[in-house]
Amino acid sequence: QEPPPELEPNDTHNRLCSPKHHCHLSDTCPQIHSHLAMWCSRMALRRLQQVAVTPLNMAGGLTSNVQREMSTLPRVYITRQIPPEGLKILRESGQVQFELWDSDDVPVPRKELLQKVKGVDGLVCVLTEKIDTELLDAAGPNLKVLSTMSVGFDHLSLEELKKRGIRVGYTPDVLTDSVAELTVALLLTTSRRLIEATHEAKTGGWGTWRTLWLCGHELAGSTVGILGLGRIGVAIAERLAPFKVKKFIYADVAPRPELASVINAEYVSFDELAKQSDFLSVCCALTPETKEICNKDLFSKMKNTSIFINTSRGGVVNQEDLYEALSTGQIAGAGLDVTVPEPLPTSHPLFTLKNCVILPHIASASYATRNNMSALAANNLLLGLRGEPMIKELKL
Ligand code: DGY
Repeated sequence: QEPPPELEPNDTHNRLCSPKHHCHLSDTCPQIHSHLAMWCSRMALRRLQQVAVTPLNMAGGLTSNVQREMSTLPRVYITRQIPPEGLKILRESGQVQFELWDSDDVPVPRKELLQKVKGVDGLVCVLTEKIDTELLDAAGPNLKVLSTMSVGFDHLSLEELKKRGIRVGYTPDVLTDSVAELTVALLLTTSRRLIEATHEAKTGGWGTWRTLWLCGHELAGSTVGILGLGRIGVAIAERLAPFKVKKFIYADVAPRPELASVINAEYVSFDELAKQSDFLSVCCALTPETKEICNKDLFSKMKNTSIFINTSRGGVVNQEDLYEALSTGQIAGAGLDVTVPEPLPTSHPLFTLKNCVILPHIASASYATRNNMSALAANNLLLGLRGEPMIKELKL
């Protein structure tokens, strides 16, 4: 496992895990190793975060001049302990004073958030925070820029933001590779039944070699359907093509010839997408139009050998209908990185199904990508506060 690139060279984690220094722990006890790595990276984040919040710590040792200077800078609240790259950019900009919720493990409680946003000029959020009328009212008229560390924006009330003239930054593109990579991993894990297989191997179910045991469905010669063709859909298809996929098809509100030509994909109706796809990958944004668009109507048209994959938003799927389709053999399997709610309660019926693989919303979770998202969110915020065009800004 690569160490997070942001760690200092003399950090404990690096000393243990740098590729330059052979790590004996990883040979003998991978679990100890991964716990240590996690602990060390948390400690590194915590240290960086402590440095980053210093400007707001008025009670602690800053001279009154500095305090006066600081107090004239735009105030920013960050709703999560975002990866170090973004914090570094904000800290070194000298352009803002900021405070952040000191945790990555639990989201800021709503009550605290409503308190903290009072009077801020800028807000950096992640996808767990609902940015709605209540929050914008609590923030008040100073709020000029919202920067979300996500490509998805279904947690934002865009109409309210537009009405108030608040500019919105988001983080597309930087996560495309990571999401596409994870989607392919999830697709193969689901279609080749890897979770079932490792479970059988570990728990004594592995008897003699059997001719049809744990057989799955292969990509070679298949038709792959993409619901909502954007950058991520293209990146997924590019990665799947070398597996000898026969045909790519896609459905969307309108044809996207430029993107489609990159992967030689054919535009089809929603019905045809359901009927023809051996693998159906959902890549569309969650909007009022796409809410629960994957429901029993769609599943009933799919082949009983088809695999359904969703790495966009849980809200595009009707989960009761999906459960029905999976448990009755209407479709062969589903791989989900996103659900409603998140986290999905462990008692949820989908967890009882062998043909359903559920991941905890990790499609963009690589060190490099999360740091890039953090940096882009920080830069969007700073540009927005300066009244300049953001690198990635939502057109409201
Ligand atoms: C996003 O950015 O919207 C993804 O779902 C998480 O990275």
